[in-house]
Amino acid sequence: MSLQIEVRTSTDVPGSLGANCDVVVLGTWAFAAGADGKKAKSLKTVKAKVAASASPPIKELADVDAIFDGFVSAAARREEFKGKHEQTLRVPSLGRVAARTVLVLGLGDRDADGVTAADARSFAGRAARAANAEKAASLALILPAGMERQLRAVAEGLTLGAYRFTKYLTGDRKPKHELSTVTLILSGRAPREPQAQIDLGLRIGEAVNLARDLSSEPGNALPPAELARHAQEVARAGKLKVQVFDGKEIVRRKMFLLDAVGRGSRNEPRFVHISYVPEKKAKKRLVFVGKGITFDSGGLCIKPAAGMGEMKGDMSGAGNMVGLMAAVAALRPAVEVHALMACAENMPDGNAYRPGDIFGSLDGKTVEIVNTDAEGRLVLADALAYGAALRPDLMVDNATLTGACMVALGAGCSGYYATSDKAAALFAAAVKESGEQMWRMPLLEELRESLRSDVADLKHTGDRYGGSISAALFLREFIGEVKNFVHADIAGPVSTERAFGWNPKGATGHGVLTYLSIVEHAARR
Ligand code: BES
Ligand code: MN
Ligand code: ZN
Repeated sequence: MSLQIEVRTSTDVPGSLGANCDVVVLGTWAFAAGADGKKAKSLKTVKAKVAASASPPIKELADVDAIFDGFVSAAARREEFKGKHEQTLRVPSLGRVAARTVLVLGLGDRDADGVTAADARSFAGRAARAANAEKAASLALILPAGMERQLRAVAEGLTLGAYRFTKYLTGDRKPKHELSTVTLILSGRAPREPQAQIDLGLRIGEAVNLARDLSSEPGNALPPAELARHAQEVARAGKLKVQVFDGKEIVRRKMFLLDAVGRGSRNEPRFVHISYVPEKKAKKRLVFVGKGITFDSGGLCIKPAAGMGEMKGDMSGAGNMVGLMAAVAALRPAVEVHALMACAENMPDGNAYRPGDIFGSLDGKTVEIVNTDAEGRLVLADALAYGAALRPDLMVDNATLTGACMVALGAGCSGYYATSDKAAALFAAAVKESGEQMWRMPLLEELRESLRSDVADLKHTGDRYGGSISAALFLREFIGEVKNFVHADIAGPVSTERAFGWNPKGATGHGVLTYLSIVEHAARR
């Protein structure tokens, strides 16, 4: 069920902290807790002079200090809380306010362009995570000044931060507490139609959560046909067009590489095409593509046992397409959006594809198989050729493609490759707006040589060094006439070991917010 979110202004709620909720969360920008603290006007309102004199109040904490007799400043000094990014100060209320706990979240240094959507989403996400950790059902969230202009992002953050994947927990393991109601307390004036923004934010947050759910589903529960079924469901609910090709149709359409990867599994591959076409003539056509390997055992070039289970998330790129289209259905932007999903299970079997095999492709090029564990680029190659035929203004693929990309950038940052500076600039702007971590990587031409085959048009892997780059160069071979192409290697950030910002531990849905920002930007121009 959706979170219930209601909006109040601080004048409606006496003393702000008076809200009748389990937990109250407020935020503060980074400050230097030092001599300037003495200047705090709140000193007059602080009752317990003893506490105050022992530890001079911090002006950023004046409101809470007023209620807690200066103890919050004292606690802040003791805990070295300075409002830094990701710092949290937890204050048990001991009956001084209705809430059990007051949490002060550090917001870090304020951005020169004011409170961004990413700031708001991150703040709200942390608040929701904290509320879950406190086993709270209700939360009062006091927005820092300026954040009242980012209500959609606040609602996104709350939905994303409160997320948990509990489907397979039973009995005692099932969480007994769930955050259900949030009171937003605005410092400034409420914007017009706050509820419409909040409702949109909830739907976008839920769309990303859907991508997370799919990413978390184990391989046994989500074979390609099942992943395709989720796409159909979202399309039906959002009044979008959807086509699903089964194994036979995939071969009939000459998607021989997708067929090759899928043939080692009893679970047939699927190709999915979801489209959104606005009622008024669209200015632009965007194509997004996702890698949908529902489980990647490596095939005959089987992976080592350690960590193989993580490969249930190898369909996250395709799962992101389902989430993206759910969000697009909510937004209904003035731009054409197509999402393609290349879904297969990579397994070893009597019918599995082998190293040394040669296959044709939808594009027409022939490919010599080197390592059956480099399956992602093969299924994507056919999907990109299909996407190119739609003649997009911009085509973006996203895939958990290489371990090499994680070696290059760490587990928390995606690498992206662009075939034009225009596409790179569009993508970079979206990354900045979403607050997701993605870094541009170079399409080094010298590595193209490593994809030469003696017996086919291309080998599908190159050298170990630069492994993420040669994968991107391989994909580029299949984009036909498309000028603006971006490949995002999301192998690392699709899941996280450690909760941060609006992401609880586990699947993140990383990417969806960036692609959504591209869609919205294209619709505005
Ligand atoms: N799905 C993996 C990439 C991956 C690795 C994603 C770790 C997330 C975490 C991909 O199919 C793969 O196996 N890539 C190989 C390519 C190699 C055989 C050229 C890799 O990265 O080792
Ligand atoms: Mn693989
Ligand atoms: Zn894979």
